[in-house]
Amino acid sequence: MSQPESVVPLIGIHDLALATSHYALPLTSLADHHGIDPAKFSHGIGQDVMSVLGPDEDIVTMAAEATGRILERNGTEGIRTLLFATESGIDQSKSAGVYVHQLVGLPQQVRVVELKQACYSATAALQFAVGLIARDPSQKVLVVASDVARYDLGSSGESTQGAAAAAMLVQADPALLAVENPAGVFTEDVMDFWRPNYRTTALVDGKGSIRAYLNAIGGAWEDYRAQGGAELSDFASICYHQPFTKMAAKAHRHLAVLSGGNPTPDEVAAYLADTMSYNRLIGNSYTASVYVALASLLDHHDGDLTGARVGLASYGSGSVAEFFGGIVQPGYRARLRAEEHAAMIESRVTLDHTAYEVLHKTTLPEDGREYLTARETARPFRFAGLGDHQRRYERTLG
Ligand code: HMG
Repeated sequence: MSQPESVVPLIGIHDLALATSHYALPLTSLADHHGIDPAKFSHGIGQDVMSVLGPDEDIVTMAAEATGRILERNGTEGIRTLLFATESGIDQSKSAGVYVHQLVGLPQQVRVVELKQACYSATAALQFAVGLIARDPSQKVLVVASDVARYDLGSSGESTQGAAAAAMLVQADPALLAVENPAGVFTEDVMDFWRPNYRTTALVDGKGSIRAYLNAIGGAWEDYRAQGGAELSDFASICYHQPFTKMAAKAHRHLAVLSGGNPTPDEVAAYLADTMSYNRLIGNSYTASVYVALASLLDHHDGDLTGARVGLASYGSGSVAEFFGGIVQPGYRARLRAEEHAAMIESRVTLDHTAYEVLHKTTLPEDGREYLTARETARPFRFAGLGDHQRRYERTLG
């Protein structure tokens, strides 16, 4: 397939690395504990396992691991911006990205900032990165999304928890995916999911959030088409935000119907299968989720996707949605991290339900006293503890 004219100059994702937690909980354990048919999770919402953070892990440790892997391969030359996308912020003032900047050894001549709009903000960060590079193609931008999805124990959202980070190096002449113009966008003030500052778990109107997601993705898609975007049949695959993988199937069917189609559930499942492998095993990772889906597609697709158009459908409750396309670049397969990602997911330690509940109920002191976290993670960075109201991080041997 030839490159469309709208992709000049080519700017996009040059490298994409994921990180997740030390622990994992199979959803069969959760089903067992609550007396629920496990098929509700495996088939009803399309989830098998959720990533669970250890006591010495957080959004910074996952983000530092994913970013570190990008720098190991690409170095730091040309990187002048780090955009950190999260809705699991650890400080009301300081960007979590500044901790990552220090942990991975980025030069001081880098601007760092944190962005928030529920699960959407990594997509805003990617578009802002494209804009910066369009102005000066010699510059590179790190876009880092890192989140932990937490709901109350026993709530209907509990099965849709998870945790992961996705780090992307965005630059001119990218090796993986060139981001196309136009993008379709949609914003609506809706209370489908939110987390007030005083809560560590989210509040959600589950069924309302599904309706809000479909409405917003439909709105972004219609705006994309109105801006002159490609037809649905022009996409080899679409990576949807996946709070649970079945949501992507609902969203794809919605866009297909808006486009005059009527695919069967099996057709939708086959079309999206490659985008779902990682998210089925990680759970919701909020801002990272849609880029976990992209990594899953590129890592798992059997055929050659070179030149193919892939859609990115991003949704963040509250709500903002964006739809855009990208063209998979020649030689992309040599840059994939499929083995690294598989090993990372495979190496998680399985929790039993009791240990998971203990972790879920663990809270951090809020009075400024010295507090050391238990040394549990085998990942490369750990959250060592607190003192004087300050978080401390360190490298491990992982
Ligand atoms: P629920 O009430 O536990 O589940 O909530 P349900 O009764 O609706 O069942 C779920 C599905 O399983 C249904 O299928 C059932 O039929 C099926 P559907 O009708 O949807 O196709 N089912 C079974 N299938 C096979 N065998 C069985 C069986 N039993 C039932 N035995 C809900 C589910 C997703 C609402 C809940 O988990 C929740 O509230 N999750 C959190 C909110 C969420 O993820 N919303 C998604 C859209 S909003 C979004 O994506 C943004 C977000 O990521 C946050 C952000 O932006 O920051 C969340």
